[in-house]
Amino acid sequence: MPDRKTFYITTPIYYPSDNLHIGHAYCSVAADTMARFQKQAGRDVYFVTGTDEHGQKIERKAKDKGVTPQAYVDEIVAGIKSLWKLMDVDYDDFIRTTDERHVQCVQGIFRKLYAQGDIYKGHYEGWYCTPCESFFTELQLQDGHCPDCGRPVEKTREEAYFFKMSKYQQWLIDYIEQNPDFIQPTSRKNEMLNNFLRPGLSDLCVSRTSIKWGIPVDFDEAHTVYVWLDALTNYISVLGYGSGDDSRYRKYWPADVHLVGKEIIRFHTIIWPIILHALGEPLPRQVFGHGWLVLDGMKMSKSLGNVVDPVALSNRYGSDAIRYFLMREMPFGSDGQFSYEALLKRLNADLANDLGNLVSRTIAMVEKYFGGQLPAPEAYTEGDAVLIALAESTPAKVQEQMNELQFSAALSDIWALIGECNRYIDANAPWVLCKTEEGTHRLKTVLYVLCECIRYVGVLIAPTMPRTPALIFSQLGFADQNLQTLESLAVFGGLPVGTVVHKGEALFPRIDIPKELADILPAPIVEPAPEKKPAAKPQPKNNDAPEGDGLISIDEFAKVQLRVARVLTAEKVEGSDKLLKLTLSLGAGEPERTVVSGIAKFYTPEAMLGRQVALVANLKPAKLRGIVSQGMILCASDAADTRLTLVSVGEGMEDGAVIR
Ligand code: MSP
Repeated sequence: MPDRKTFYITTPIYYPSDNLHIGHAYCSVAADTMARFQKQAGRDVYFVTGTDEHGQKIERKAKDKGVTPQAYVDEIVAGIKSLWKLMDVDYDDFIRTTDERHVQCVQGIFRKLYAQGDIYKGHYEGWYCTPCESFFTELQLQDGHCPDCGRPVEKTREEAYFFKMSKYQQWLIDYIEQNPDFIQPTSRKNEMLNNFLRPGLSDLCVSRTSIKWGIPVDFDEAHTVYVWLDALTNYISVLGYGSGDDSRYRKYWPADVHLVGKEIIRFHTIIWPIILHALGEPLPRQVFGHGWLVLDGMKMSKSLGNVVDPVALSNRYGSDAIRYFLMREMPFGSDGQFSYEALLKRLNADLANDLGNLVSRTIAMVEKYFGGQLPAPEAYTEGDAVLIALAESTPAKVQEQMNELQFSAALSDIWALIGECNRYIDANAPWVLCKTEEGTHRLKTVLYVLCECIRYVGVLIAPTMPRTPALIFSQLGFADQNLQTLESLAVFGGLPVGTVVHKGEALFPRIDIPKELADILPAPIVEPAPEKKPAAKPQPKNNDAPEGDGLISIDEFAKVQLRVARVLTAEKVEGSDKLLKLTLSLGAGEPERTVVSGIAKFYTPEAMLGRQVALVANLKPAKLRGIVSQGMILCASDAADTRLTLVSVGEGMEDGAVIR
């Protein structure tokens, strides 16, 4: 991250659906953690979230409920705000697209773009997907359905305004190529360039006459502004852009980072930069497309019935524990599995055992051996110096990871310190030291070192777990804010000698996992996931197939799931001249796959990017050079392996299509 005094971070603005699930909370918790981290690092932070309230979907839902769209969204937005409060998502501003300040900003931008000729009037003829609020041309449809979500689309023809996206296409390609950090992770950048920008941009339809629940075009009121143009503008309307007071805009824009889920990165890295550029405004420094939290291999979604409720989880285990799990479990940028078992294991191992036990046994020993008063350290041994050096080097490591949005790696660095502290207790065996006078002297140093390390841990976990540090510090016996800052970790030994420790309740109670799973799984906080994507269609049994001669029946063949997959990233596997590591997409709604393939002698990584391949999708995962490969791509090769070509898929097949 650049060395700036301010830091502006956003989440996407959420659709007001009845219940946000834990996948939605993932993005907000990440943004909040980053905001807290940047504040801790001394920056003047502005963190914004909000709600995206216009569009046909809302209009229809409100009608079904017999209420006005405004009344419908007001109630839901109140629920969303209370969820963020419960999860300690502490935003600086909450923007609603129904706010007057936002409406005026969008209208002003539309007017300006029209006046300068970037928006013009024409006719729209095409297909609209209501759940995705997206227009598609005939060519973009997949099997006549929405290419993003696979649902039916509706035919529309009406007068409409268009935005000249095509005019800015080459500028954007150049910009993305010259600013490699703009789209992160890199795989998403390649996807945007290869799949959307290089094939060519069509002009974008930016108004509708058939949708009433939207922001009216103020010089042509039969039209409402296209929801994505409306929604994306939130990032600057919230700062007062174009209003009488744009001081916050001037202070915080351009955003340091827009955090968004990978399925909406396209809107943020194609439409949004072009709008900003056409307005003559700078682009956000970075758009980071994070992965999805998936349940049973499927993206969580209400319509699939596989959602996990963050309110129930936070109430049951505490919001710090849930925040920790979300940030620790999956590297930011990749998809990650949610499972109750994984959650409970982490809570027990990392929180109850590693952190909780370290604090409780250290405090108990200060009470038992020194009447609760923190003793002064005496001479440091070599072993002490190693632990002290680790503590002193951890803040810089954590900061480095956090600056790259690597939340999980940052936590893993903090947990490395916690692990070393626990090993240090075992190596020094205080229960033996306490038996002699010389040992008791040594014990003073051991306990001081431990308490000071715990203070380091308390400061470093604060962005992710905002509640736990206060509990730790009160057990250590201090409330001084100066001992809770990052600067206070510059030199080991800030914790004053003589503080009076207080043993408190266990920070994280241990959970009896089998009992807990039995208790929660039938409860309504998880709904069963539906069947996964169809395998190849079952075929009629062919009883004529001869057996024992190497032939297989059509039933046996039908067990093999062959699918069309698109290569998102490709790189050489270190230490191997044969293997490429590929990330494959099976279309929106399915997690990405990693596949290791022995094609490196025949295909360069660049040649693989954006290409469609035939994938054996239900192969048992196997480890190759330490990488778990989740499938196999099909190739033709000669017997001597001197020639090899990929089995190709004809034009126009969607990613994820079944091959049979
Ligand atoms: N309203 C649009 C965004 C407009 S921004 C100008 C929208 N809203 S949403 O409510 O559907 O999604 C909000 C965010 O939640 C998105 O970033 C989306 O990727 C994220 N998530 C929704 N389900 C998710 C998971 N299962 N896992 C991780 N994040 C997910 O899109």
